[in-house]
Amino acid sequence: MSGLLGKIDAILAAALAAFGEASEVKALEEARVKYLGVKGQLTEQSRTVGSLPPAERPAAGQAVNLALKEAKAAHQAAAARLERANSQKPGLDVTLPGRRRALGRQHLISRTMDEICEIFERLGFSVVEGPEVETDYYNFEALNFPADHPSRDMQESLFVGEGLLLRTHTSPVQIRTMEKRKPPVWIVAPGKTYRRDDDITHSPMFHQVEGLVVDQGITMADLKGVLSAFATAFFSPDTAIRLRPSFFPFTEPSAEVDIACVLCGGRGCRLCKGSGWLELLGSGMVDPALYKYVGYEGEGVTGFAFGLGVDRAAMLKYGLSNIRHLYEGDLRFLEQF
Ligand code: PHE
Repeated sequence: MSGLLGKIDAILAAALAAFGEASEVKALEEARVKYLGVKGQLTEQSRTVGSLPPAERPAAGQAVNLALKEAKAAHQAAAARLERANSQKPGLDVTLPGRRRALGRQHLISRTMDEICEIFERLGFSVVEGPEVETDYYNFEALNFPADHPSRDMQESLFVGEGLLLRTHTSPVQIRTMEKRKPPVWIVAPGKTYRRDDDITHSPMFHQVEGLVVDQGITMADLKGVLSAFATAFFSPDTAIRLRPSFFPFTEPSAEVDIACVLCGGRGCRLCKGSGWLELLGSGMVDPALYKYVGYEGEGVTGFAFGLGVDRAAMLKYGLSNIRHLYEGDLRFLEQF
């Protein structure tokens, strides 16, 4: 009899310890099964009471019942403790606003390039592209550059192999397009261009949009009209342009196109260095010397071309003081646009 009472005490002590230590619902449930389940250790003891001599049963029964009661109370207390602990953990609050995923955006240069192309598309141009690694033939020769032109020198342009270079302008797309299409041609060609240049207004990699029109009866008035329409659409409705005589091997005559200063409107300020004008692009009437390279001789057509600096246009439009802002990948800058 005293052996049984000692055993009950020992099992009870173990059960109380197990319930007290359980730190998770699963561990507590395992302890409950072990001591209080149908085949649990305390439950088994209550069954042995019936096999005792009748005189010993009341005392033994009472001891088992007390132990069961105490163990069940300890189990309940432990269950309540775990329940409280779990309810304090941060859960899912469906009433909170959702967390927004940070969406990327188009880079200012891509956006500006798209915007420029869209303006020309509205004027009837279509968009074409050409390779960034060019041959001497397309970048220079077929554009009428003389053999000793400085930009054909290894020290001036970025050569990547024998007769291969990173295109210094988008003008080679003029030749590639004319080779493939018969007039009328109305195209713009956006893309990256490369030169050995690096300062606050020049980056070794920059962007241009080339324009080429070859059609019946095209004159310089068409050039001026198209570029004026572009300037007013891109900058502001009252933006004036002017043409200044210039030279390019592939246009004759050639003209530098300026816009009235975006800052002072033409009165003269620091940005335009007092002149009232800002240089925007190079242009001119297509030199008929090009036609023999592309099989346009005898077509009776004339044309004009222009090459617009996208980085420069973006800097003027958004008032950027340093071209490097465009290439540093600093989100504080990029997210403003
Ligand atoms: N390709 C010339 C440049 O990069 C610009 C240009 C294009 C001039 C078309 C005339 C006609 O400087």
